Amino acid sequence: MQNLDWKNLPFGYVKTDYNVRCTFKDGKWGNLEVSESEHINIHMAATALHYGQEAFEGMKAYRGKDGKIRLFRWDENAKRMQHSAEGILMEKVPMDLFHEAVVKAVKLNERFVPPYGTGASLYVRPLLFGSGAEVGVRPAKEYMFVVFVTPVGPYFKEGFNPVKIAIVRDSDRAAPLGTGTFKVGGNYAASLRGVAKAHDAGYGSPLYLDTKEKLYIDEIGAANFFAIKDNTYITPKSSSILVSITNKSLIQLAEDLGLKVERRPVAVDELDTFEEVGACGTAAVISPIGEINDIDAGKVYKYCKNGKPGPVSTKLYETLVGIQYGELEDKHNWVTIVE
Ligand code: PLP
Ligand code: COI
Repeated sequence: MQNLDWKNLPFGYVKTDYNVRCTFKDGKWGNLEVSESEHINIHMAATALHYGQEAFEGMKAYRGKDGKIRLFRWDENAKRMQHSAEGILMEKVPMDLFHEAVVKAVKLNERFVPPYGTGASLYVRPLLFGSGAEVGVRPAKEYMFVVFVTPVGPYFKEGFNPVKIAIVRDSDRAAPLGTGTFKVGGNYAASLRGVAKAHDAGYGSPLYLDTKEKLYIDEIGAANFFAIKDNTYITPKSSSILVSITNKSLIQLAEDLGLKVERRPVAVDELDTFEEVGACGTAAVISPIGEINDIDAGKVYKYCKNGKPGPVSTKLYETLVGIQYGELEDKHNWVTIVE
């Protein structure tokens, strides 16, 4: 096992031993190659560099009490990467290639899978990009698929403790008929001004509103939004947000726990009425929201008034994490043991 300060790992990059790569050329995917290099030799006219033909994924591998390594819903990430590829006209990565690459990257770097009980996990980052040279605006003919891994701690320094976020009204991350439902790099470039604005004001993340009317909630930085009210799990339906695999899982767990579920447009005006509010995503897991500052509207919403996450968010968090670490029954077959 690698010697790292596991309990204090940030959500950042740590060099590991290997990554895996595969190239699509002459109409077919080549062999999966193992590399020790952290660098990629790329053509200066690659479409990824000029026209943002790039998509990525994010999932985690967890070490359980039994020492086994578990991947959570990798097939959902594989399908979403195919959806992203379709969205910006890239070659799709076949499911079996995606699976082989992810398992290989995790196994080869097994000594970097954080020990059980440290709160850390191994973040798996698959990326797909146009590597072929073009100057006109058109899809590349060659693609590269890379998977690297890095051990990470909590995305928000607060961990499972209330986080403060700010509504950003003067920049959008994605247009209603744009690329918001695809996990493409361009969305994250577009989000940087909002992220900077929230950080500069002392907040952990921006909360984006619908771009047409600014009346509805879209999502929270790199995480989906959910709220709890009257035994109901409420989460936005919008054509410009990423369909979060964590959120999908929480919807199922909420139903299992006997909550009602509403996936519908969620108005900013409703923020006053929610009992609990949270951000959810692979990196964010569940981050309870303690405060939402609508800076430009001069309004502040407060939750977790006793300083602690709410009971429903806590139950959902414990159930999700329990399944991911192999401590609770995996009723829905979400977990794959890496052998
Ligand atoms: N929304 C955005 C914009 C994201 O980048 C992410 C992270 O992947 C999520 C939501 C959460 O999605 P998931 O739960 O699949 O990680
Ligand atoms: C994830 O939750 O995997 C994300 O995509 C977050 C990342 C953009 C930092």
